[in-house]
Amino acid sequence: MPQPEAFVSLLRSEPGYISGQALAKKAGISRSAVWKQIRMLRRYGYTIESRHGLGYRLAGQTDLPVPWELARVLRTSFIGKHVVYKETTDSTQNIAISLADRSDSHGTVVIAEQQKSGRGRQKRKWLSPKGGIWLSVVLKPGIPTAKITLLPFVAALAVCDAIKNATGLDARLKWPNDVMISGKKVAGILLDISAEADQINYAVIGIGINANVDSAAISARLDGTKITSISDELGHSTSRLDLTRSLLENLEHYYLEMEQQGVGTILQKWKKRSDMLGRKVAVVQNNNKIIQGMATDINDDGSLLLKTDVGDVNVVSGDIHVRY
Ligand code: BTN
Repeated sequence: MPQPEAFVSLLRSEPGYISGQALAKKAGISRSAVWKQIRMLRRYGYTIESRHGLGYRLAGQTDLPVPWELARVLRTSFIGKHVVYKETTDSTQNIAISLADRSDSHGTVVIAEQQKSGRGRQKRKWLSPKGGIWLSVVLKPGIPTAKITLLPFVAALAVCDAIKNATGLDARLKWPNDVMISGKKVAGILLDISAEADQINYAVIGIGINANVDSAAISARLDGTKITSISDELGHSTSRLDLTRSLLENLEHYYLEMEQQGVGTILQKWKKRSDMLGRKVAVVQNNNKIIQGMATDINDDGSLLLKTDVGDVNVVSGDIHVRY
């Protein structure tokens, strides 16, 4: 049985219709195997027209970030050179973590069309229906262990720029690493690491983007977080292939910038894309403690500097509620 990419390129090389019989001959498979391949490609999102007496024609590309399509367009040197693609899985983080110990896994990307047990920050569930971009990237950063908390800033920056580039939408950043459009969350970042005191074994960065999903249906199952999606903002769906391509290219760019130049410029760029600095915020911490104050800066370790009535506070974790 040929791989989907081999069958797609067969169809792609035909300017018009090609008969089932000719396809079977070219692919070296039976007529019923041809039908199975056509069905599989349609499931992957390709539009394949079939006409009685003429055969099949590739009439539309897929918008899904399947590995063979990514390989055609992705301009990176290590991120996404190896892509694992699942139609359904529990969580891409779990697969990526299981691959992370391999010596050649730096830059491996795991993508799922849907997740059954997607994980969010602070042990929350992350709803991951079909239509979104749910992916995890294995990285082995050559930075001190103490600096690993800055990796999500790199990822958030990459997501923010990818959304802007691929859709034109005005995406913004909210501490610690939420991506927002019009004050509503469109994407989130999760970091899992394995580290010793002086060395990082691996980091797995999980990225969830509400691309072509119904945000009202997601909001209805959440506790008050304001959610949006790219398709809801645009009024039409967007190409997940283009968005994933831009995301992985930006991620590699900012990752290399962090490794080579430190986090200074990354944090500066992050701050430029944030509209929460200079505003009054309430930080809800894990123990449900609430700290109120003015968000004034992001410190070099990624913590948030808050000016409160009782002085400056450095906040290392929590959820921010911004008063717009
Ligand atoms: C957040 O809470 O804001 C972080 C959400 C991260 C979700 C992504 S989707 C791909 C990867 N797999 C998971 O189970 N979670 C992350």
